Amino acid sequence: MIDESRVEAGALPANGVPAERVLEEVRELRASDAPTHGGRLFAYVYDPAVPGLDELAAAAHRESAHVNGLDPTAFPSLLAMENALVGAAGRVLGAGPGTTAPDVVGSVTSGGTESLILAVKTARDAHPEIAAPRIVVPSSAHAAFAKAAHYLRVALDVVPVSPDTLRPDPAAMAAAIRPETVLVACSAPSYAHGVVDPVAEIAAAAAEAGVRCHVDACFGGWTLPYLRRLGQPVPPFDFAVPGVTSISVDLHKYAYAPKGVSVLLHRDATLRAPQYFAYADWPGYTMINPVIASTRSGGPIAAAYATVRHLGDDGYLRLAAVTRDAVAGLADAVRAVDGLRLMAEPESTVVCFTATAGGPDLFVLVDELTARGWHTQPQLSYAGLPASVHLTVTAAVAPRVAEFGPDLAEAVTAARAAGPVRLPAELTAVVGALTPEALTPEMVVGLAAGLGLGGEPGSAAGPLPERMALVNTVLDAAPSALRERLLVEFVSLLQRPTW
Ligand SMILES: Cc1ncc(COP(=O)(O)O)c(C=O)c1O
Repeated sequence: MIDESRVEAGALPANGVPAERVLEEVRELRASDAPTHGGRLFAYVYDPAVPGLDELAAAAHRESAHVNGLDPTAFPSLLAMENALVGAAGRVLGAGPGTTAPDVVGSVTSGGTESLILAVKTARDAHPEIAAPRIVVPSSAHAAFAKAAHYLRVALDVVPVSPDTLRPDPAAMAAAIRPETVLVACSAPSYAHGVVDPVAEIAAAAAEAGVRCHVDACFGGWTLPYLRRLGQPVPPFDFAVPGVTSISVDLHKYAYAPKGVSVLLHRDATLRAPQYFAYADWPGYTMINPVIASTRSGGPIAAAYATVRHLGDDGYLRLAAVTRDAVAGLADAVRAVDGLRLMAEPESTVVCFTATAGGPDLFVLVDELTARGWHTQPQLSYAGLPASVHLTVTAAVAPRVAEFGPDLAEAVTAARAAGPVRLPAELTAVVGALTPEALTPEMVVGLAAGLGLGGEPGSAAGPLPERMALVNTVLDAAPSALRERLLVEFVSLLQRPTW
């Protein structure tokens, strides 16, 4: 149940609400969210479980929340913190004084997606003579590359990954490079499966063709170097690799900073130059933007600065060791259960598993895990790769690992007992016959209601049903264009103003 005040929270009240009450409202709203802390949510959040860190980051954020990154000369504090974060990221990724990449420069962006869009924009704008620019990515590359290609009108050449290694063949990546190619990209590691692409070979092929090579280390750029220092085999992926021209790393992931901070690094300032947007042809201030946003809050940058300095190199090494052990424990738990198999041997901080033939229905299993307080991320089948379950593992998971194994085994038994989701015949027929073009908003409303999606306006129930297996099975049966359309229509149903 929900009280009136929560519904009213969306409205502009006639009379201001006292501060304490407003905070209470925020807390009430937050109560229906997935748990950001406590090591039971395996996506979206990165929790080091370090006492006092949240408070420190919040205090630093408060100091700089109203500072504007629009003009670094007006707010040199922000420039100093940004330069320090870029230096830290460079050091972690094999650049800086005394390395083979001493001239690395970079910018702080709002997140991985912005870093990738800017990497693509920079590569595109370095070649104004190419009328129809293209980029080459493995099929496992983050969806943000497709978004960048779409926003920037750059063609996307996708090289499939092997169903066995989940990596692209470097020869196939090389073969995909054309005269119009402005960028070749790869991941260290991929989000979905957590495997590191053959960066050295791909970068060599790109260099030979005279094309830039971006390494998307948004996810793993802050952990792989520490895992390597701990003795784990990590293939070369950073600026030590010849041919790598830019790297992205998200501080709001494994640097454990609050959301809104990523770093995009280029091997030198010449490579970075086309990243800037400058405009003086209007009566206002000359706008010089290194990133997509113009006005930028200093809050996230200050929070990241405080986080990185407080944890320090030794802190990240310790957290990487804790996370490595948690990954090993979770992978063992998966191996111990009949009917599941790891998609890949973990080599970073992802554990990803699928069902073996005759194993449990994965979507039912995900619901059974949710019922036991474990929030995992189902991944739909795609281009010959089976549906899977993704676990992003952070340091906060470590104290939970011993509880996970028995719960996983129990959840598998329950999923087997429940049996696989069987789509009602009429639903199978509808999904089979649907095309993205034929889909109308009314059809989506009907389908969403039939699947228990959307919730009641003003009700305390979330927009998703407690059990998602049916929804996931429907989506899994749909081709990707239809998945996109269905989910866009659904999200657009959710995005309605409350008056
Ligand atoms: C490898 C990789 N690249 C890019 C991104 C996009 O990052 P963001 O969600 O911060 O935009 C992610 C997010 O998970 C990622 O894992």
